Amino acid sequence: MTNPTGLKLVERDASGVDTAFRADVLAGLAEAQKAIPARWFYDDAGSQLFEDITRLPEYYPTRAETEILRERADEFAELIGPGRAVVEFGSGSSVKTPLLLSAIKPSAYVPLDIAGDFLRASSAALAEKFPGLPVHPVEADFMRRVELPGEIADLPKLGFFPGSTIGNMVARTATDLLRSMRETLGVGALLLIGMDLIKDEAVLKAAYDDAAGVTAKFNLNLLHRINRELGGNIPVDAFAHEARWNDTYARIEMHLVAKSDVRFSVSGQSFAMAEGESIHTENSHKFTRRTAYTLLAAGGWEPRARWTDSEQRFSLLLAEARPPRSAP
Ligand code: AVI
Repeated sequence: MTNPTGLKLVERDASGVDTAFRADVLAGLAEAQKAIPARWFYDDAGSQLFEDITRLPEYYPTRAETEILRERADEFAELIGPGRAVVEFGSGSSVKTPLLLSAIKPSAYVPLDIAGDFLRASSAALAEKFPGLPVHPVEADFMRRVELPGEIADLPKLGFFPGSTIGNMVARTATDLLRSMRETLGVGALLLIGMDLIKDEAVLKAAYDDAAGVTAKFNLNLLHRINRELGGNIPVDAFAHEARWNDTYARIEMHLVAKSDVRFSVSGQSFAMAEGESIHTENSHKFTRRTAYTLLAAGGWEPRARWTDSEQRFSLLLAEARPPRSAP
C-alpha cells in the first residue's frame, strides 16, 4: 500500500490517540474555511484507496509518469549516468522505482520514509528484484535534512521524488522541502522530480472525481477515520465529495461539502456547519514548464532536462543542486 506523503510521525497519548492528528483536525475544524491536511488521508484504508485511484481510467498521472520512465530510459542513462546513489523521498513504487533503477544502473538505493513497516517491506521487495544492489532504508521525516548512511557518503547522488506529490504542498512548503532535499543530498546532486501539468479543466476534474466514485470514497474515508480514531460522530452521509479547479493557484482542491446543516463533535469539541459549507482536504497543484522551473529555482535546484509523456499531461524534471550565486 502507498502513502505518497512519506510523512507519518506517530506520537500517541495514554488513550492511544495520535496527538498530531487530533491537533490538526481540531485546529482545522475551528477555521473559518475548515481544512484538514491531506497527509491524514493515508490510514490503511486510505492508502489502499489511493492505490485504487492510480489505476482509474480518469487518473492519468501514474500512467503518464510511468510511460516517461519506460520510454526515456536511454536519455536518463545518458544524462544521469551510472554509479549514483539513488535517494528516493518516500518508500518507492513497485513499478516506477524499478524502471529508474534499471535505466541508470546505480550503485546504491536509499529509500527515505517515516513509515518504518512500509519502508522495510518495500525495501525487501526491491532488494529481491535487484540482487547485488546495496539497499539502505532510512526511517526519517524527509521534510527536514536527513543524515544519509555513511556507506553512500562518497557516491554522487540522485534524488527521486515521483508522483507530483510536491503538488500537494503549497508553494512555501514545497520550497522548504526542495531546500531540505538540497541539504540532504548536497551541492552537485541531481534531482528527478515529477510535476503534473495544467490541462483542460474537465480532464483535471474527472481525474479527481471519477465515475466509479473511488476518489469520493478516498476523501470521505477521512471522516470515517476521524470518527473512529478521535471519538467523532460526524454524519458521513451528510457530506459530498467535490473536486474544484482553483484557477488563481492552478490547483485542484478537494472538499467535503455539507449537504445540509450539520452538528457534530470530535474529541469532545462541538462543531456546526451550514449547508454548502466545506472542509478543504487537499490541494493538487498543476504546473507549466515555467512555474515548475521557478519552484525548483526557489528551492535551490537548476533545471537540466525535462520530459513529458506523449499526450503532454505530466512532466518529469531533472535538476542540479548548484552552488549559491551572489549575483545574477
Ligand atoms: C499523492 N498525490 C500526488 C495525489 C494527487 O494527484 O494529488 C493524491 C490524490 N488525491 C486524489 N487523487 C489522488
